[in-house]
Amino acid sequence: MWFSHAFAWQVPNSLLHRNHRDNVGPSHLTVGPGNGYFLSKLPKDTPLRTLHLLDLNPACLEITRKRLSGRFDIRTTEQDALKPWPVEPESLDSVDSHMMLHTVRGKDMWDKEPLMAEAARALKPGGRFFGCTVLGKGDELRINALARRLLDLYNSQENTFCNLGDSPEDLRKVLEKHFSTVDFQVVGTVGVWVATK
Ligand SMILES: C[S@@+](CC[C@H](N)C(=O)[O-])C[C@H]1O[C@@H](n2cnc3c(N)ncnc32)[C@H](O)[C@@H]1O
Repeated sequence: MWFSHAFAWQVPNSLLHRNHRDNVGPSHLTVGPGNGYFLSKLPKDTPLRTLHLLDLNPACLEITRKRLSGRFDIRTTEQDALKPWPVEPESLDSVDSHMMLHTVRGKDMWDKEPLMAEAARALKPGGRFFGCTVLGKGDELRINALARRLLDLYNSQENTFCNLGDSPEDLRKVLEKHFSTVDFQVVGTVGVWVATK
């Protein structure tokens, strides 16, 4: 996370910490928590109380649940994020998807649209969907030699990356289709956003 974010994807972890800190609300759902590292670094005065974790890997759910169970009321769901989520419409204050869309199967960002549609459905009006993902193609991206090598390597392995068709233009368009305001930027090879319902 430290090496590849800094040298391959060229996105500062401080930006990802800030994205979490500034946008998480009392009732929050994280799509693809991994080991829960960024959630574990939320400041003491975070408004977060109820934390839903959604992941198709039960090990990620268990590691994150154990890591954060003293701090938040945690609910876990083991499933593919492209399938309908078992949460009520307009029930959440915030949803995040950090460094996971590039691992979701699909030929381009439009195949991953059901995840954004579910986030929009689950959020209250004014709720925020924030996140970031490594993108695989597009003139705006700063793809250096290490990033090129890792993109090709990870996309050639099973169950690692699937993002060679993911572009900033499509990501922005998918977000704009489902949210009323979208703050989107490209940093290195990474698309970073905060979208408001
Ligand atoms: C690289 S980790 C990101 C972890 C964390 N969000 C972070 O920023 O450090 C990707 C996570 O997405 C999950 N994931 C990948 N594809 C998924 C899918 N289709 N549905 C749900 N979770 C998925 C993985 O199991 C893993 O927990």
